[in-house]
Amino acid sequence: MTVNIMGWGSHACLLNALLISLLGLTSAGDTLTSSQSITGSQTLTSNDSVFKLGFFTPQNSTHRYVGIWYLNQSNLVWIANRDQPLLDSSGVLTISKDGNLVLVDAKKTVLWSSNVSNTATTATAQLQRSGNLVLKDDSTGQTLWESFKHPCDAAVPTMRISANRVTGEKLRFVSWKTASDPSSGYYSASLERLDAPEVFLWVNGTRPYWRTGPWNGRIFIGTPLMSTGYLYGWNVGYEGEETVYLTYSFADPSSFGILTLTPQGKLKLLRYYNNKYVLKMDLGFSVCDAYGTCGAFGTCNEKSSPICSCLSGYEPRNGEEWSRKNWSSGCVRKVALKCERLKNGSQSEGGREDEFLKLGTMKVPDFAQRLDVEEDKCGTQCLQNCSCLAYAYDAGIGCLYWTEDLIDLQKFETAGVDLYIRLAYSEFQSIGDAPGHANKRGKRLIIGITVATAGTIIFVICAYLAIRTFHLRKGNATHSENQRVTDVQKPAKLDELPLFDFKVVANATNDFHLANTLGKGGFGPVYKGLLPDGQEIAVKRLSKASGQGVEEFMNEVVVISKLQHRNLVKLLGCCIEGDEKMLIYEFMPNKSLDAFIFDPLQRKLLDWKKRFNIIEGIARGLLYLHRDSRLKIIHRDLKASNILLDAEMNPKISDFGLARIYKGEDEINTKRVVGTYGYMSPEYAMEGLFSEKSDVYSFGVLLLEIISGKRNTSFRNDDQSLSLIGYAWNLWNEGSIRSLVDPEISASVSDSEDHILRCIHIGFLCVQEVAKTRPTMTTVLSMLNSEISHLPTPRQVAFVQKYHSSSLESSSQENQCNSNNHVTLTEIRGR
Ligand SMILES: *[C@@H]1O[C@H](CO)[C@@H](O)[C@H](O)[C@H]1NC(C)=O
Ligand SMILES: *[C@@H]1O[C@H](CO)[C@@H](O)[C@H](O)[C@H]1NC(C)=O
Ligand SMILES: *[C@@H]1O[C@H](CO)[C@@H](O)[C@H](O)[C@H]1NC(C)=O
Ligand SMILES: *[C@@H]1O[C@H](CO)[C@@H](O)[C@H](O)[C@H]1NC(C)=O
Ligand SMILES: *[C@@H]1O[C@H](CO)[C@@H](O)[C@H](O)[C@H]1NC(C)=O
Ligand SMILES: *[C@@H]1O[C@H](CO)[C@@H](O)[C@H](O)[C@H]1NC(C)=O
Ligand SMILES: *[C@@H]1O[C@H](CO)[C@@H](O)[C@H](O)[C@H]1NC(C)=O
Ligand SMILES: *[C@@H]1O[C@H](CO)[C@@H](O)[C@H](O)[C@H]1NC(C)=O
Repeated sequence: MTVNIMGWGSHACLLNALLISLLGLTSAGDTLTSSQSITGSQTLTSNDSVFKLGFFTPQNSTHRYVGIWYLNQSNLVWIANRDQPLLDSSGVLTISKDGNLVLVDAKKTVLWSSNVSNTATTATAQLQRSGNLVLKDDSTGQTLWESFKHPCDAAVPTMRISANRVTGEKLRFVSWKTASDPSSGYYSASLERLDAPEVFLWVNGTRPYWRTGPWNGRIFIGTPLMSTGYLYGWNVGYEGEETVYLTYSFADPSSFGILTLTPQGKLKLLRYYNNKYVLKMDLGFSVCDAYGTCGAFGTCNEKSSPICSCLSGYEPRNGEEWSRKNWSSGCVRKVALKCERLKNGSQSEGGREDEFLKLGTMKVPDFAQRLDVEEDKCGTQCLQNCSCLAYAYDAGIGCLYWTEDLIDLQKFETAGVDLYIRLAYSEFQSIGDAPGHANKRGKRLIIGITVATAGTIIFVICAYLAIRTFHLRKGNATHSENQRVTDVQKPAKLDELPLFDFKVVANATNDFHLANTLGKGGFGPVYKGLLPDGQEIAVKRLSKASGQGVEEFMNEVVVISKLQHRNLVKLLGCCIEGDEKMLIYEFMPNKSLDAFIFDPLQRKLLDWKKRFNIIEGIARGLLYLHRDSRLKIIHRDLKASNILLDAEMNPKISDFGLARIYKGEDEINTKRVVGTYGYMSPEYAMEGLFSEKSDVYSFGVLLLEIISGKRNTSFRNDDQSLSLIGYAWNLWNEGSIRSLVDPEISASVSDSEDHILRCIHIGFLCVQEVAKTRPTMTTVLSMLNSEISHLPTPRQVAFVQKYHSSSLESSSQENQCNSNNHVTLTEIRGR
């Protein structure tokens, strides 16, 4: 009996333990009521099981913390006791008698508390589907406290990064000290300059080291990466009169992201789709991005040497320091402004009114003030105020002006805004420019996404070895990222191609006469020529000036010499003599597609039948590259200007300077991202990952361009969308996609309308953000030919902007995340 009883007893104990743990699990749910607590490995789980709240220990640490994580503990989005760790395995998270959420250790010492005064006697905490932990008064349902208002280092969608204009109270994100120590680190981020809000990053909470530039309703105008459309989903909103907030959100609820400020002070963005990781983006900062690198009235340009220069009309305050590249003292005006001269009493010296010098594509200085006037009044108002030193006008912000020292200016290649600086009239003679002179916009956009880590380097080496092994096995003329020039320069590779004599080519092109120039290819000018036998040719000549072109030239030789397809441009031969390197192609009388579809007159020549023929031809050419040729090739630079048209308007894909031969890898990682902004898929632009799906993405962009007659990149910052894709997607969702169609074709073809809409639909499928969800070219062709009748619904397409805060508020499933440690040099060409 006793034994039995004991048996029962121990069973009961076990059962009890089991029950308790079962209860623990069930009670885990997403809420914690005043009678409950969390200890050990228990967790609260958000309704959709995506977020968990519980105890965790960082890698390489023995300290324990209570935190909230997304999917798993490596994606922490919030920590309660970051500065008061638990040193042992004790610790209970519960709701105290006064209704506060508290964390106590074994000695009942309160390590952390929500610390709300005047709380109710009973309260309930809920881990919401957004990842927000919310403490509510049981009797009134009022929110007492929420984790979104007390962030750590990570921002997730729907979180409001807010700041109060009146009280100065603001949300501050603070980095971890190290990767294994979540205590408050050196770096922080907050929303500042609330009249024209921008994000600041700080060291030690006091010294700014980076700023985004003011928000213009779409982007931060001092962050060129944003104007490429690769960073989207941000919005600035207002709560009443006092509070400004920044938030991050996606149109598609399956999209999620986490933005983190790393212990190194960099920004890391992780993107997820359907709770699966899809993209990582590291934002490194260049030396010019560093706040105030060039001092007051100095401007920074990464492309020049030295990087710092004084603004026109200014000179170094301390020439000796400046020449030692110590720019901290900045610059001073050479000639006093009229107001200053008047102030000094020399009336006669007043002279003519000051003028403005226009500096194009600038990051505007810090401490902007706003003036509520139209564009044409912005300058005159500035001139009328003696303390106004510069102004700028952005359609989304309006008139901005500056009265303090101009600090943290940067010259961008593209992006940025025009900044007008005030100078004495006499300065314009010495500058040699008419007032209002604008710097020419550069054509190339270089985005440096930086950061090196051992991991990346090892990965690159592995990738290199893998590719090399493949080359050796194939004995083929392919190349690795680093070695391709040497690989392909072996003369043997060129033996297979007919060689043209330099004299013959020179004669054919009338000595490369300017009048024979057809345009500019990837690595040099292209000339039209006529061979003695009457054949017309196009000659691509490697310009001797550019060293980089050699690689592309060799690459093109290798790739194109092996290919033959009616939708690929045909290489007739090459010419290599001394310094001269040329490729000789069949001549395409109708030049390139962009000359037609984007030209108001020429596009009339392309009816729907011709356009569809072009779309289909490009698809066939691409399919041949991806699947049917002896080699598998990714083009990497598919765009309208690389599609040539023969006499019958048949499309031929050209320019293989950036193409890559691959061998069935799912995707290849490259350190050097080269391509054309607007056509690059997000995973390629951000992570350097390319696959045949990157070409599919470019194809989708091209398809939408052909149908709409609009360039994907022609949309300006102040337009409704940043890109054709965003614009088209909005129309699609509004049910007015018909208005996307180029009026030149929509007028004539009411019976083809369904066909056109079907093609647009296919275009959307090709530009979906997640590479895996894009169709292959085989599928695309089947869809175009209606062999596949039912088209799937396109999901989140890349680069869609959200603008209305109302829709922001209604979407609950958004997040941002970050990651670090990735060195990518992105080079994007605006050819
Ligand atoms: C999640 O919330 C929905 C709607 O409130 C509810 O119907 C569902 O039962 C909840 N699921 C879980 C697992 O609690
Ligand atoms: C946690 O999730 C990340 C993706 O965000 C993934 O890379 C990592 O492998 C996961 N870790 C574990 C232990 O599952
Ligand atoms: C709780 O809040 C009070 C003021 O409301 C503050 O003085 C105190 O330091 C806070 N305690 C903790 C542990 O944060
Ligand atoms: C933990 O330590 C190992 C070995 O020293 C190291 O490789 C790893 O990066 C560390 N992890 C973190 C998060 O610091
Ligand atoms: C600022 O932070 C650095 C580490 O980045 C630290 O070494 C330095 O002492 C801090 N300076 C101040 C003034 O707190
Ligand atoms: C640069 O000049 C400033 C101002 O004269 C001085 O304080 C600073 O120490 C100098 N920095 C260096 C690196 O020489
Ligand atoms: C104003 O006059 C003073 C003394 O005459 C001179 O030192 C100063 O440089 C003048 N300022 C300007 C802006 O001309
Ligand atoms: C000139 O600008 C300053 C700084 O914004 C302002 O305080 C002052 O009132 C302005 N003066 C005039 C005459 O508008």
